Amino acid sequence: TSHLAGASGVGTPAKAGTRDVTTLVERRQGTPDVAVTITARQQRVTIAPGLTVTAYTLNGTTPGPTIRARQGDLVQVTLVNESVKDGATFHWHGYDVPNAEDGVAGVTQDTVKPGQSHAYRFVAKQTGTYWYHSHQVSHEQVVRGLLGALVVTPREGIAEDADVLALSHLYAGKRTVQGKTGDVPVVVPSGRTARVRVVNTDSGIMPVWVSGTAYEVVAVDGTEVNEPTPVEGRSVLVPAGGRVDLRVRVPSGGAAARVEFGGAALVLGPAGSSATATRAPRESVDLLSYGSPAPLRFDPDTPDRRFEYAIGRRPGFVNGRPGVHWSVNGKLYPKIPMFMVGEGDVVRVRISNSSGETHPMHLHGHHVVVLARDGVKATGSPWWTDSLEVRSGESFDVAFVADNPGIWMDHCHNLPHAQEGLIAHVMYE
Ligand code: C2O
Ligand code: CU
Repeated sequence: TSHLAGASGVGTPAKAGTRDVTTLVERRQGTPDVAVTITARQQRVTIAPGLTVTAYTLNGTTPGPTIRARQGDLVQVTLVNESVKDGATFHWHGYDVPNAEDGVAGVTQDTVKPGQSHAYRFVAKQTGTYWYHSHQVSHEQVVRGLLGALVVTPREGIAEDADVLALSHLYAGKRTVQGKTGDVPVVVPSGRTARVRVVNTDSGIMPVWVSGTAYEVVAVDGTEVNEPTPVEGRSVLVPAGGRVDLRVRVPSGGAAARVEFGGAALVLGPAGSSATATRAPRESVDLLSYGSPAPLRFDPDTPDRRFEYAIGRRPGFVNGRPGVHWSVNGKLYPKIPMFMVGEGDVVRVRISNSSGETHPMHLHGHHVVVLARDGVKATGSPWWTDSLEVRSGESFDVAFVADNPGIWMDHCHNLPHAQEGLIAHVMYE
């Protein structure tokens, strides 16, 4: 039951007062409001003419089916592993589920072997755009498409006229949106708005921009932006694993708007409409200053715990392999000490990176709010994130409330880096 790093290595001895993950379940009983069964297979798939890959499919397609729920629904997803030989799990990326539903093979559950199935159940508390993917040999299974989108809408619906999913994935290095290459038409009437839910499932950052109209960034990693302002001539950079929701108004008069992913585009407009493609803008939206400030529900300046998460490199052994490896606070996986927290704590973390490479850092089970980058304070809408791009030489001050007991990974979502050991854990004592 190896997880991301090959060796689970996190055989967490239960400390006094630590609850077993299997007890960290909220509402598993009752009739689910949304029930989906998803069968995983390994097979050859033709993504586009001339692009046939060996992939993992979910109910016969990759990306797999989109799971849609309304806030408050009890969601049940049954994973049936037909032929994924290393086993598979579903991790709900960015969704703050109870620990036992987190889907980390070797940590919160055993991997689901061929012929086995596993039911996940959780209450859809947060609204927004999320995704699910296998958390077993992720650097191989996620790359080969064992993934899909999870969308939770408010019960009263969304403010936009159309709800458009734009999950992007690289298959054999080729950019796709919703599993398609090139221009993907989406019919939206002239003058109407669409909420375009962008999901970056790759290991690297993805610039997204809009041609033919201005747009707004209305949500980041599932959290609504307070008072978003119109963006023109700038892209938005979506980190590995990250999501942004864009509000795009289709021009009146019959033309389309293009949401550009670099190699693939969504063309939003009346049937048969088009718009001229544009090149990637040089400028991008800085989320540190985008939108308007709003109060937090806690005081990040009086934290109960403070941690450093300093990413570097040093020689040593990881999983028995000698080399120069990623280190956290000078330690190598799996000897990286856990970040111990207590339930209810306000936790402040300084993430810094002197490793020479970029790391998109992903914390499970929680969202962090960005307080500052390189000592410059955030001045925009509270920037809540679960997937934060940290470039070499950068440092971020972030804070979160420890309100979801369990053991949670905090790792790099450039999945080969995670496989190489850029993994730490947050653990409730
Ligand atoms: Cu999206 Cu630990 O993963
Ligand atoms: Cu990394």
